[in-house]
This record gives sequence, structure tokens and C-alpha cells, in this order.
Amino acid sequence: MLMLIISGCFFSVFGHEHHHHFYLPEVSEHKAKSFLHKRQATPNPRYCTEITYESWCESNIPYCQGQHEHTREQMCATSAPCVPGQHCLLTTPCPGHFTYACVDIDECASSPCQNGGTCHNGNNLYTCTCLPGWTGHDCEIDIDECASSPCMHGNDCIEDRINSYVCVCSERYEGVHCERDCRPGPADIMFLLDTSLSQLEVMNRSIEYMTRFVKQIPIGPNDFQVALVSYAFKPELVFNFTAHQSNTSVLDALSLIKSERGPTTTSDALTFVAQEILKPENGARLLPNISHYAVIVTNGLSTDRSEALQTAHFLKATDSRFKIFAVGVGDSIGHEELIQLPTDPSYTFAPDNDDLLMAMLKDAVDYGCTDCNSSSVTDVVILFDTSKATSPLTGNSLHSLKVVEKLIDSLNVTNTDIRTAMMTYGNGSQIKFDFHQQSIHDIKAKIYKVSIEDEKGNTSFALSSAQEKLFFEVYTGSRFASRKIVYLFSNGKWPMTEISEIKQEILKLHDVGISVNIMIPVRSFNAEMDNILDNASNVAFDPFRVYVIEDNASSVSLALKAAVRDTKYVECPPDIFKAKQ
Ligand SMILES: *[C@@H]1O[C@H](CO)[C@@H](O)[C@H](O)[C@H]1NC(C)=O
Ligand SMILES: *[C@@H]1O[C@H](CO)[C@@H](O)[C@H](O)[C@H]1NC(C)=O
Ligand SMILES: *[C@@H]1O[C@H](CO)[C@@H](O)[C@H](O)[C@H]1NC(C)=O
Ligand SMILES: *[C@@H]1O[C@H](CO)[C@@H](O)[C@H](O)[C@H]1NC(C)=O
Ligand SMILES: *[C@@H]1O[C@H](CO)[C@@H](O)[C@H](O)[C@H]1NC(C)=O
Ligand SMILES: *[C@@H]1O[C@H](CO)[C@@H](O)[C@H](O)[C@H]1NC(C)=O
Ligand SMILES: *[C@@H]1O[C@H](CO)[C@@H](O)[C@H](O)[C@H]1NC(C)=O
Ligand SMILES: *[C@@H]1O[C@H](CO)[C@@H](O)[C@H](O)[C@H]1NC(C)=O
Ligand SMILES: *[C@@H]1O[C@H](CO)[C@@H](O)[C@H](O)[C@H]1NC(C)=O
Ligand SMILES: *[C@@H]1O[C@H](CO)[C@@H](O)[C@H](O)[C@H]1NC(C)=O
Repeated sequence: MLMLIISGCFFSVFGHEHHHHFYLPEVSEHKAKSFLHKRQATPNPRYCTEITYESWCESNIPYCQGQHEHTREQMCATSAPCVPGQHCLLTTPCPGHFTYACVDIDECASSPCQNGGTCHNGNNLYTCTCLPGWTGHDCEIDIDECASSPCMHGNDCIEDRINSYVCVCSERYEGVHCERDCRPGPADIMFLLDTSLSQLEVMNRSIEYMTRFVKQIPIGPNDFQVALVSYAFKPELVFNFTAHQSNTSVLDALSLIKSERGPTTTSDALTFVAQEILKPENGARLLPNISHYAVIVTNGLSTDRSEALQTAHFLKATDSRFKIFAVGVGDSIGHEELIQLPTDPSYTFAPDNDDLLMAMLKDAVDYGCTDCNSSSVTDVVILFDTSKATSPLTGNSLHSLKVVEKLIDSLNVTNTDIRTAMMTYGNGSQIKFDFHQQSIHDIKAKIYKVSIEDEKGNTSFALSSAQEKLFFEVYTGSRFASRKIVYLFSNGKWPMTEISEIKQEILKLHDVGISVNIMIPVRSFNAEMDNILDNASNVAFDPFRVYVIEDNASSVSLALKAAVRDTKYVECPPDIFKAKQ
């Protein structure tokens, strides 16, 4: 056994062709002596102990060198020629003229570097170059990658493999180092609920709206907080920001709201929330990273309209984190006020979708988070009644066609992803242009060619064809994932017999995700209008979707701003509040 080890070592080392560079393993004195002893015990004539074996030794160099341990020990001992880190050995195998030499000991021979480290042989020493993730003289230490606390915002770090770690982000954070706070919020939301006389009938709809909203957000000291102020003649705090610490608790409170009577003093309500409610004593969090949202739930028919708009304007200018949103709930909607009250016209919302929530989530999330995106991928159909009885095109007034033209302008198709198409209908229907990109000039030329064509039209049939064969198909240029909105231009004087048919058709469209806005251009308001408005509100999916547009430049502009509002929208994933990696 011992013999094998030593001769094996020597053989492999001396097997080199070049004799100048010896890298011998060090042979301990003990091992050498033991070897010699064994050799003497079993004499072999071929051992190079005599001069006659000179030539044999010359041709069996490694072997012979290995056999003269005693000579080497003696020679090396007497002159002690080598410095530490060197090894003394015989340079010639020939017993007749032994000489010695000193060679560096290969400190790397024992493979001292661990865990895949590379060894560098030096003078009486070695150094190790470690693989990533290891350190220490012999690369014996596994570096703790988590020691530098690379995970931000106090999130946990785990070493998953050598030289790597994983940050386990709590649900608020995302990113490799949990650096982004992409969970929307925290924010303090104040609902300003219009409880005036005109809103009594629709109080349930307001409550349903807020309920649907609150159900979708996490409530708590580190998330959203909700307070409620009711206002009619004067504003009152119904519950403060900390009264309800879970969404279910808020929902219970909402279900208990009682309505009252009085005028609508929106200005006072806004001043009240900004000055009285946004205070720590109501549980408001007045920190620079927490937004404050006032959500006005109203029909937009304030008694103090101009004052309300002034107050809103003042509040926008004073505090950039205080944002006013408006949602139109009512039996008839003052779009002109609703579009002007909020911090931005784009913060006005219909009550029949979740656009307000999505826009707020986008606003409440940190800059750089891309979960919620703005989109204007919308396909708009203009459905224009050309029958004698119900067309908005009356006498020699072009008001209704001008409104269509202005609608096209407001859609801003050249700068957005919005596409538009137009169909006129009387007894039959006719596509004026479809969604394929056309020049605005051509579109406008086609609009002004529209004229009254039939005695009698069928609005419900036109609506159903907008859904079925004619529109929202790929060949018309409609897009699968687009938001779809129909603008139905009529004078609203539908016979009673048709009202329920139209209502049915609009409901069907709503069920497949198509909103219908009823556009009623009129010369001016008159007594007849109240009836028309009632009937239009009745057929619409929600009264918010009825626009009566007077022939007055500023009215047209505001009404259209409101009417095209939901062609631009925010989309957030349904799991926005779930933990992400
Ligand atoms: C409002 O809802 C309550 C309870 O759900 C119901 O009793 C009441 O009749 C509703 N009022 C209206 C006007 O729909
Ligand atoms: C609302 O509360 C319920 C019960 O506490 C909870 O399961 C749900 O996740 C909450 N919704 C949100 C959006 O946090
Ligand atoms: C908020 O309302 C709750 C319940 O009405 C009340 O107990 C609390 O004192 C109020 N103020 C704060 C700061 O929570
Ligand atoms: C908001 O800021 C406060 C104080 O600066 C800080 O303690 C808190 O963690 C921050 N909250 C979030 C969600 O960033
Ligand atoms: C159309 O969109 C562009 C780019 O977003 C904008 O600068 C312009 O004001 C818009 N025009 C109208 C009429 O909204
Ligand atoms: C409607 O059109 C059909 C044919 O398309 C025609 O027979 C009918 O007389 C028209 N009705 C009216 C009221 O114009
Ligand atoms: C309108 O068209 C629908 C569907 O074709 C039809 O059922 C309905 O009777 C028509 N209404 C009128 C008033 O012609
Ligand atoms: C609207 O409906 C009422 C019934 O609610 C009816 O008397 C009236 O004629 C309709 N108005 C118009 C302009 O069609
Ligand atoms: C148009 O409407 C605005 C506001 O509704 C009003 O101030 C203005 O006097 C009206 N102009 C005309 C010409 O009627
Ligand atoms: C928003 O955009 C980002 C980046 O383009 C994308 O990863 C994400 O899925 C989008 N979110 C939605 C809800 O479309």
C-alpha cells in the first residue's frame, strides 16, 4: 500500500519529458525511510545501487530517482541548500554522479481551495480565487448575500442558491429588491353624497355605486380610508376616516344612510371637507405620500353652481394632493357642471362602470408602476336618425350635424386610438363611413351630406344592427379588445310604443359591453324638453347617458367634453391588490 502510493507519486511526476521543471510532491522523511526499509527487506538486483546500473538508470530515470531516498536525504541534509517552500531532490538518477536541486513545492498540489476555487501556487504559499458566492482563505466561507439587506422596505431576504438571494416582497411592494410600491394607495377618500331633494329618488343608486366601489378596495390604516359627508342644505360628517377599518364595516354603514331634504350647496360641502374633514382628529392621514380624494356623488345640478365651480377651482390650485372626482348619479344629469367640478375634466365619471375606481387606483399608485394603463382604444359608432318624425335634423338648422362634427373633433381620432364610424337610419340603414382610418376632411364632407330620408325610422332596429351584423366586426375596422360606444342622435320624440323596444335594445347592448349615449341636439330648452328628457332618461341604461345639447358654442363644447369622457379610460388588472413577485 505504502509502496504504491510513493511510487505512484514519483512516477507520475517524473514522467515529464522536460527535466528542468520538477514539481515533486514532498515526501516526508518518515515515508522515505519506511520505503527504504521495505526495499532492503526484499532485495532486487535491478535496484540502481551499483555503478553497473548507470545505463539502466539513465533509461529509467523516474524509477531510479525514486530509489535513492537515502542519498537524497543525505545530500540535502548536509548542505541544506533549499529555502522554505522549496523541496530538495536529486536531479540525476545516476548513482555515479548524484546532484541535487531545489524546486518550489507546489502548495496547490493538495487542492486546498474549496468550493471550486482556483489555486495559485506561490513561494511557500498559495492563494485561492473563489467562485462567486464564496470567500475566506480557502474559499471555505459561503458569503451571506442577505447580509447587506438588499431587500427594501423591510422585506425578507432569502438565500435561495449559492451567490444569489430572493427578496420576498410583501403585497404592497414589487421589483427584484421590492423597491416599487405598486399597490394602489394609501389614500383617504371622502365621499360627498348629495342628499338634496332631487336626489331622494336615486339615493339607492348612489349607495349602490359607493358600495360597489368600496367592495373593490382594501380598507385599513395602511391602505384606503373612507369617510362620508352628506350634503344638502349644509354638509355633515356621517362617518370619519377611522370609524370603519374594513370594507365590510364601511358597507354596513353605507346601507344605513338616510336621505334628507334641501337645496344642493356643493360649494359649502367642498369647503367643509377641505377645511373640517381633512384633519387628524377625523383620522385623516396628513402625510406627503398620502393622497386625498373627494368623490362628489351628485346629479350636477347644484343650487350654487358658479360658487361651487369657484371653490373647486380654488381647491385644485391650493393642494395638488387634494383631488376632486365627480360621478353623475341622478334622474337627470347636469353634465356641464359635472365636467367642470373635478380637478381635471377626465375625473368625471359615469355611474354604470368602474372607470372612477380605475382612474383613482392609477392615481394612487407610485410613479413607475405599470399595472394600470391609460387607454383610448375605443370604437365609436355615431347612429343618426334620418326619419322625419324622430330625426334631430329639423328645418334648415344644421345644429345637429355641427354637433356630430364637433363630436368627431372632440374624439381627436388623429391623436388617440379612437376609431369612429357612422350609420344613418330611417326605414333602412346606411353606413356613411366605417372604422377604417379616413381623413377628417372626408368624414366631415360625409356628415354634411346627411339629410332626412324616410317618413318613419326604427331606432331599436338600428341599435340592434349596430350590435349585430353591421358594426363592431373586424371587416368594418372594429377591434376585438376595444371599448365600444354608440352615440345615438335623435330628437327623442319616440312614440310610447317604441320606448320599451329601444330600452330593451340598449339593455342588450349594455350586456355585451356596448354603452349607448343618447344625444339630443336642440335649438333651445322649452317646456316640451322635460318630457323628452324623461323619456330619454327612461330608455337610457342610466340617465347619465343622456346629453341634451343646446345650440350654443359653450354648451356644445362642455356637453361634448362630457360625452366623450369615457372614450379614454384606465385599465387595471383584477389582481391589482394581490401579492406580486
Ligand atoms: C332603496 O333600498 C331599500 C332597501 O334596499 C328599499 O327598501 C327601498 O324601497 C329602495 N328605495 C327606492 C326608491 O328604490
Ligand atoms: C373586503 O373585505 C373582505 C372581508 O374582510 C375581504 O375578504 C376582501 O378581500 C376585502 N376586499 C378588498 C378589496 O380588500
Ligand atoms: C371617528 O369615529 C369613531 C366612530 O364614530 C369615533 O369613535 C372616533 O372617536 C372618531 N374619531 C377618530 C379620530 O377616529
Ligand atoms: C409614508 O410616509 C411615512 C413617513 O414619511 C412613512 O412612515 C410611510 O411608510 C410611508 N408610507 C408609504 C406607503 O410609503
Ligand atoms: C388631441 O390630442 C392631442 C394629443 O393628446 C392634444 O394635444 C390635443 O389638445 C387634443 N385635441 C383636442 C381637441 O382635444
Ligand atoms: C320602408 O321600407 C320598405 C322597403 O325597404 C318599404 O316597403 C316601406 O314602404 C317603407 N316604409 C316607410 C314607412 O317608409
Ligand atoms: C322595429 O324593428 C323591430 C325589429 O326588426 C321590430 O320588431 C319592430 O316591430 C319595429 N318597430 C317598428 C315601430 O316598426
Ligand atoms: C314621453 O312620455 C310621456 C309619458 O311618460 C308621454 O306622455 C309623452 O308624450 C312622451 N314625450 C314625448 C316627447 O314623446
Ligand atoms: C350659452 O350658454 C352659456 C352657459 O350655458 C351662457 O352663459 C351664454 O349666455 C349662452 N350663450 C348664448 C348665445 O345663448
Ligand atoms: C400595462 O402596461 C404594462 C407595460 O406595457 C403591461 O405589462 C401591463 O400588462 C399592462 N396592464 C394592463 C392592465 O393592460
